[in-house]
Amino acid sequence: MALLVRAAAVAVMAMLASPAAAQGAPAYKNHTVGGAYGWFFNATSNTTSGNYSWAATERFYLGDYLIFKTNDNSSVVVTSNSTTYSLCDPSEDYGLDTYIYDGMGGYEEAVFAVPLISEGTYYFFSEANGGAQCQQGMRFEIKVAYGRGLPPDLAQPPPGPGCRLVRVVVSWVEALLLYSLDLQICK
Ligand SMILES: *[C@@H]1O[C@H](CO)[C@@H](O)[C@H](O)[C@H]1NC(C)=O
Ligand SMILES: *[C@@H]1O[C@H](CO)[C@@H](O)[C@H](O)[C@H]1NC(C)=O
Ligand SMILES: *[C@@H]1O[C@H](CO)[C@@H](O)[C@H](O)[C@H]1NC(C)=O
Ligand SMILES: *[C@@H]1O[C@H](CO)[C@@H](O)[C@H](O)[C@H]1NC(C)=O
Ligand SMILES: *[C@@H]1O[C@H](CO)[C@@H](O)[C@H](O)[C@H]1NC(C)=O
Ligand SMILES: *[C@@H]1O[C@H](CO)[C@@H](O)[C@H](O)[C@H]1NC(C)=O
Repeated sequence: MALLVRAAAVAVMAMLASPAAAQGAPAYKNHTVGGAYGWFFNATSNTTSGNYSWAATERFYLGDYLIFKTNDNSSVVVTSNSTTYSLCDPSEDYGLDTYIYDGMGGYEEAVFAVPLISEGTYYFFSEANGGAQCQQGMRFEIKVAYGRGLPPDLAQPPPGPGCRLVRVVVSWVEALLLYSLDLQICK
């Protein structure tokens, strides 16, 4: 099995006051991708298990999770890079917010819980089978809105499966700013 080496980083301006939660903002929610049908690809029939156009009608907020029920034949790429999405291929994308959930392989079933940690447009797809799964519809885009903002436990995102987190703290004393940079090194 090829080793995937991906790095992802999130910069957090730790000493800036975080805005108060908006009045009446929705509660945090976990969205199961594809509902009961999950996130699977049948290479024999060349079809996806679910209909992911569901995402176009759903609202997403910081702190929500997308839950992917899947197996070793599929992956989950998370990116804000529309080029990568249109190519169904992350291999030339070294952007710091492109994550690949691919685990270590060898599992019949797996659940990837992907936290939504940044606002804006995010794309999700399976890169497996050289992009064929994505081209066959295993893909969707969402818009992440602020909602209540990130809960404290996600202010530093957890590493994905097969990944470890490396935290680097950098401070500029004059500017009274402290940045912490999280690097995810994934197999
Ligand atoms: C959503 O999923 C995450 C990760 O599995 C879990 O920690 C959290 O408790 C879940 N939240 C809800 C509201 O179910
Ligand atoms: C995959 O598709 C084939 C052909 O349509 C079907 O016979 C088979 O049961 C499907 N496999 C699964 C796991 O759904
Ligand atoms: C799967 O379907 C797509 C589009 O219909 C087609 O281009 C591709 O060749 C098919 N692949 C297989 C393995 O059947
Ligand atoms: C997915 O669902 C949408 C909305 O219900 C529908 O318009 C579309 O044709 C469906 N796509 C597939 C591949 O079934
Ligand atoms: C977006 O991804 C493409 C390849 O998929 C890459 O060439 C480009 O540098 C990426 N852009 C950014 C801003 O990372
Ligand atoms: C993965 O795909 C292969 C080839 O289509 C199939 O034989 C195998 O059963 C699939 N694995 C799982 C866990 O579904």
